[in-house]
Amino acid sequence: MSAERRPAGAAAPLLHVDNVSRHFGSLVAVDRVSLTIAPGELRAIIGPNGAGKTTFFNLISGFFPPTSGRILFAGTDVTPMPPERRVAMGMARTFQITEVFPELTVRENLRIPLEVAAGKRLALRLSAADDARIEARIDELVAMGHLEARAHRPVNELPHGDQRTTEILTALALSPRLLLLDEPTAGMGDQETYDITRLIRRLHRETGLTIALIEHDMRVVFHLADRIAVLAEGALLGEGTPEEIARDERVQAAYLGEEVHA
Ligand SMILES: Nc1ncnc2c1ncn2[C@@H]1O[C@H](COP(=O)(O)OP(=O)(O)OP(=O)(O)O)[C@@H](O)[C@H]1O
Ligand SMILES: [Mg+2]
Repeated sequence: MSAERRPAGAAAPLLHVDNVSRHFGSLVAVDRVSLTIAPGELRAIIGPNGAGKTTFFNLISGFFPPTSGRILFAGTDVTPMPPERRVAMGMARTFQITEVFPELTVRENLRIPLEVAAGKRLALRLSAADDARIEARIDELVAMGHLEARAHRPVNELPHGDQRTTEILTALALSPRLLLLDEPTAGMGDQETYDITRLIRRLHRETGLTIALIEHDMRVVFHLADRIAVLAEGALLGEGTPEEIARDERVQAAYLGEEVHA
C-alpha cells in the first residue's frame, strides 16, 4: 500500500506513474507523464503514431528504465525492477506485433507460462497432480477465449484474431492484476476486431481485471474504456471519459495533425 495520503474511501491506485520521462539521445519519447490507474479500471491510451505510447508501456513493464520519474505498482516502487520481477508482482502485457510460439498449439502456448509459474519448466516429468492442475487451468483459459475447437492446432494455422486471443490468454495465464495490451486489434478486419473487443470486455467484466490498452481504433476505445489518456509528442495531452475526450479540441487537433495548443 502506498504511504501517500488520500481521501478516506478512495481506492489506492494500482498503477501510479509519477512524472516519467524517457529520452533516446536528443529525442524525448515520453515527456514528464503522470498517470494513475485505479483497481478494476479499463483505461485506454491513444495518440498519433510515434506519440510514445509503446515506449510508455515499455517503461511500465520495465523493458528499459525511465530517464527520470518513478513507477509505483500496488504501492511498491518498481522503477529499478527488471520485467520478470514486475511479472511476478502481477503485471502482464501483450505486444504491438503478436508474440506467440507459432509452431506450438494453443494449449502448448498456454502451458509454458503455467509451467514457469509453477517452477516446473525444466522438470523432466511433472507429477500427475501438477499436470492435472495445469491442464485444468488451460481448459479454463481456452474456454475464456472460446478456442475449444481449435486448441489442439498449431497457432500459425489459425487466423490472426485467434493468434491474438492466444497471446492475451498467455498473459492471463499468470492471473495478473494489471494487463497491458499494445494495440490488440492491430491489423485486424471488422469481425476479428469485434471478437477481440468482446473478449477484452468479458475479461474486464467477469474477472474485474485492471486493463490498460493502447488502441488506434476509436470504435474499440469508445466501446471499452472507462477513461482515456491522450499522448502527443511524448506528453500527456489530456485525460477524461470517452465523451470528454471526443469533445476535446486539442485532441481533435492532434489527430488532424494541426498545431496543438496546450
Ligand atoms: N528503443 C528506441 N530507441 C530509439 N528511439 C526509440 C526507441 N523506441 C521508440 N523510439 C522512438 O520514440 C518515439 C515514440 O515511439 P513509440 O513506439 O513509443 O510510439 P507509439 O506511440 O507507440 O507509435 P505507434 O502508434 O506508431 O505504435 C518514436 O520517435 C520512436 O522512433
Ligand atoms: Mg506503438
